[in-house]
Amino acid sequence: MTAKARKAPPRAMAMLESLRGLGYSTAAALADIVDNSISAGASEVRIDFQWDGPDSRVLILDDGRGMSDPELEGAMRLGDKNPLATREAHDLGRFGMGLKTASLSQCRRLTVASVRDGERSCLRWDLDELAADPQSDWLLFEGPADGSERHLNSLDDKASGTLVLWEKLDRIVTAGYTVDDFLTMTAVVETHLAMIFHRLLQGPRARIKLLINNRSVEAWDPFMSGHPSKPWTSPLAPMRTESGPVVAQCHVLPHQDKLTKDEFKQNEGPAGWTAQQGFYVYRNDRLLMAGSWLGLGNSKAWNREEAHRLARIQLDIPNTADADWKIDIRKSIARPPVALRPWLTRLAEDTRERARRVFAYRGTPMPAQRNTPIEQAWRVDHVKDGIRYRIEPTHPAVAAVLDSAGDLAPLIKAMLRVIEESVPVQRIWLDTAENKGTPRTGFSGEPPDAVAPVLRTLFVDMISRRGMSVDAAKRALLSTEPFQNYPALIAGLNGPEAA
Ligand SMILES: Nc1ncnc2c1ncn2[C@@H]1O[C@H](COP(=O)(O)OP(=O)(O)O)[C@@H](O)[C@H]1O
Ligand SMILES: [Mg+2]
Repeated sequence: MTAKARKAPPRAMAMLESLRGLGYSTAAALADIVDNSISAGASEVRIDFQWDGPDSRVLILDDGRGMSDPELEGAMRLGDKNPLATREAHDLGRFGMGLKTASLSQCRRLTVASVRDGERSCLRWDLDELAADPQSDWLLFEGPADGSERHLNSLDDKASGTLVLWEKLDRIVTAGYTVDDFLTMTAVVETHLAMIFHRLLQGPRARIKLLINNRSVEAWDPFMSGHPSKPWTSPLAPMRTESGPVVAQCHVLPHQDKLTKDEFKQNEGPAGWTAQQGFYVYRNDRLLMAGSWLGLGNSKAWNREEAHRLARIQLDIPNTADADWKIDIRKSIARPPVALRPWLTRLAEDTRERARRVFAYRGTPMPAQRNTPIEQAWRVDHVKDGIRYRIEPTHPAVAAVLDSAGDLAPLIKAMLRVIEESVPVQRIWLDTAENKGTPRTGFSGEPPDAVAPVLRTLFVDMISRRGMSVDAAKRALLSTEPFQNYPALIAGLNGPEAA
């Protein structure tokens, strides 16, 4: 023993109270409890929210392998496992804290009962009972609190499994909290867990069934896998790192116009389209972070912007990389190691650019005929102090007027200048942000009757005034904004003599 040293164990009450402030949301706390069930091999996890005013409670029951009495004691102890230890590959834990910190962030009484090989044990952290006796130190009580025995009944018919019981929900049921708030909170938890565990709930790697108040939780897939209108999915991109392989896959989701109202709502995600863009970091198929640019960027870190809301990138990291990725206790923050940042930045740049083009597709027409550039009606000029929008005088509709203007030419040019100088840029920008969509252009949503007369006028001008053949005029229209989107109408045009 070194000569000069003192023992300074933490004071139990102070320590337990401070650990409550790690900043868990109810949903994140429950996700941590469900992680334990999954790591214990459970195939079914049931969460029950039972409203009873200030005596409301939450129960989490699993059919996993359960714990023997000494195991349960270890599980209830703070810091029983070393975070530096190597974990089994499928283990979702890390710090040896979650069961206690997540639970006590929401409640003052945590009772855990577990059955293994038919033997049942039950231990309890009870902050109020500890506070009542200043000498109690780190006392773990045996068995449920008086009057709470009946809440453990659901474990009776289990050969193995674990029940976590949260009582005295002082951080949830606060003053003025009503049953409606409780129901809203339940819904928020459901949405969150549907996202966090989506891969474990559905698809090739599904491992568990999750029920909230007896209702099955349906997985929420951030990548709209298999949707026919999805514009782009990259191949899987693996990357070797010192702490194991990392795999990325980039996705651009469909434009709002390609989705039904329900699909649009369904796929926006818990926080909405703009907030859900970016990387989705998975560890053992469990989502750690949903929608973040991870502090990446070129000169400064990227924000989540409307224009990139269709970009989502999935990233799988192994649990051997926890230290490298600086996983936090709540498992809601991960930071990429420096060595990976250039690769991730490249992936993100490419995906963001593609997503931006899909988001603004009405502004940047896609040619109906490959390799033929589109005659655009507007041009973007980059000038010293920013950008300006200019009407393209070579666009057939504009050229037709200018060429036949005669004495009217100065007036028409003045009119075009006025239009260019008064493009309602601010207004469009605001409307786009507020309505979460690009305002309509290119005749989208209009009946063919609205397009046909305009199309025909130009067609006739091309043939009679400019002397183009019917075929040449049709080909020209196929690459003229906004008519390139109406190849069927163009195909149906007849020469002026037939009209
Ligand atoms: N539902 C459960 N079923 C079986 N064992 C569990 C369960 N919950 C917790 N445990 C055990 O308790 C230990 C501590 O859990 P926890 O405090 O969440 O930390 P971690 O998950 O990081 O190990 C786990 O490693 C596991 O051995
Ligand atoms: Mg855990």
